[in-house]
Amino acid sequence: MPMMLVARDGVIRMANEATCTLAELPQAQLIGSSVDQLVPAAARAAHSRWRADYLEAPERRPMGSGRDLALTRADGSTVPVEIGLNPLQVEGERFVLCSIIDLRERQRAERDRAQLEIEAAEADRLRSLKLMAGGVAHDFNNMLVSVLGNASLLAGALDPESELCEWAQDIEQAATQAAELAKQMLAFSGGGQFVVEPTDLNALIRGFLPLIKTLVPRSVMLRTRLAEDLPPVPVDRGQIRQILTNLVSNAADAMKGEGSIVLRTSTITIVPELFEQGIWLGDRLTGTCVGIDVSDDGPGIPPDSLRKIFEPFYTTRKEGHGMGLAAVLGIVKAHGGCISVYSELGQGTTFKVFLPVREVGHDGPAEAAEPDVSSAQPLVLVIDDEDAVRRFAARALARGGYRAELAGDPRDGIEMFRTLHQQIALVLLDLSMPHLNGREVYRLLQRIDPDVPVVVMSGFSQEEITLRFAGRRIGVLQKPFTTKVLLETVASAMS
Ligand SMILES: Nc1ncnc2c1ncn2[C@@H]1O[C@H](COP(=O)(O)OP(=O)(O)OP(=O)(O)O)[C@@H](O)[C@H]1O
Ligand SMILES: [Mg+2]
Repeated sequence: MPMMLVARDGVIRMANEATCTLAELPQAQLIGSSVDQLVPAAARAAHSRWRADYLEAPERRPMGSGRDLALTRADGSTVPVEIGLNPLQVEGERFVLCSIIDLRERQRAERDRAQLEIEAAEADRLRSLKLMAGGVAHDFNNMLVSVLGNASLLAGALDPESELCEWAQDIEQAATQAAELAKQMLAFSGGGQFVVEPTDLNALIRGFLPLIKTLVPRSVMLRTRLAEDLPPVPVDRGQIRQILTNLVSNAADAMKGEGSIVLRTSTITIVPELFEQGIWLGDRLTGTCVGIDVSDDGPGIPPDSLRKIFEPFYTTRKEGHGMGLAAVLGIVKAHGGCISVYSELGQGTTFKVFLPVREVGHDGPAEAAEPDVSSAQPLVLVIDDEDAVRRFAARALARGGYRAELAGDPRDGIEMFRTLHQQIALVLLDLSMPHLNGREVYRLLQRIDPDVPVVVMSGFSQEEITLRFAGRRIGVLQKPFTTKVLLETVASAMS
């Protein structure tokens, strides 16, 4: 511990090696000179007064009872310290023994702890937001099945030239937009359907480019710089397209019609220094990654907004929902990747998405079932606890030439299947229901008839994605869906 012996007049009489190291001064320069050289200029006057007062009535002043003190070093920098004082009498002369504690390490640890606390609180908040977004999106999807489905039924039933048909189509369009928003919320919550396949991201981007271009006004230049020899990455292609869509449309929105956007891919070996620039979210990766960058030379993002932009519902745009980047982050995390943003006001913004090359553990649903029953009016058993979903499914199935039996309780559904399974051509099954979840229902159905084709309807909660169907072949319907999609999925599951 740094210690000094100081005389009444403030002259340092002894200073140990640790003091020299702390003050960055040789012993010769410390001993014999005034202790004032170690006191920050601003505190020097006060310090002489304190010293005089202290010497009037010297007493032991333990560590920790001092003021906020600092020690000035040779280079003018200061070190926060705590100083303990001990009066000493040597041969009639009064001295003060000062012991000094360097507080830097302690303060650093305190800052780190405070930072960790902030991060933990932030993680908690995000967890609740995710739960909420996922839950709301899940319920919305169920309602939208009815809105979108019935609107599509109506539009199909009406004279295409009639005004009524136009109204129905307006409902269909609004419901489709609502479904898009629900999809973004699900993506943020870490939900959504995952079909992970090794993918050449360059090929994916090239194929998607015509669609991306429609997001960008003609006056904005969109260029690609795709790295050669990109290793294949295990991703859900639809979700990666969602990332590209969201990042490019944000860039286009920010630029207000002028400038250029560059889409870049690269293979990167992660080094820790990489994390020093910009703001990072998601897992800190190691090893080899594939990067997708979206850069623009738009107005940039103010530094104090940078952390907020990934929050759900944070937007600075009048017509924005603030779900674009929240969804991107959810998707990136679900792929075990990370994302950074680097922005300078007036210069532009770069979002970098890093995806690990290793395999991620999501199980995609398998393809349609084996050929099975074919009869004049095949019977479909619909098991879903939502009235509106069952009613719509029955109507839509009727349009496709199917008969439907409906069960609102999974236990009733199983009983109906037990009685009717020889006539039932397919089961349309909701994945999340009270009493019995879709997976259990599926197992029970299989026990009765292992070959029954099943189409599951998924509202995409986290639990549903991780649901594994042990290699079974099932069809999947993403809620909400139109009559057309329902009938196609059912037909392909049966053929
Ligand atoms: N490339 C960019 N340049 C400047 N600001 C950006 C950029 N990308 C995002 N932002 C800022 O981040 C905010 C949040 O983006 P986010 O995509 O999450 O929501 P949004 O675009 O406002 O709404 P939406 O839900 O329709 O996507 C934007 O409102 C904008 O202020
Ligand atoms: Mg957006």
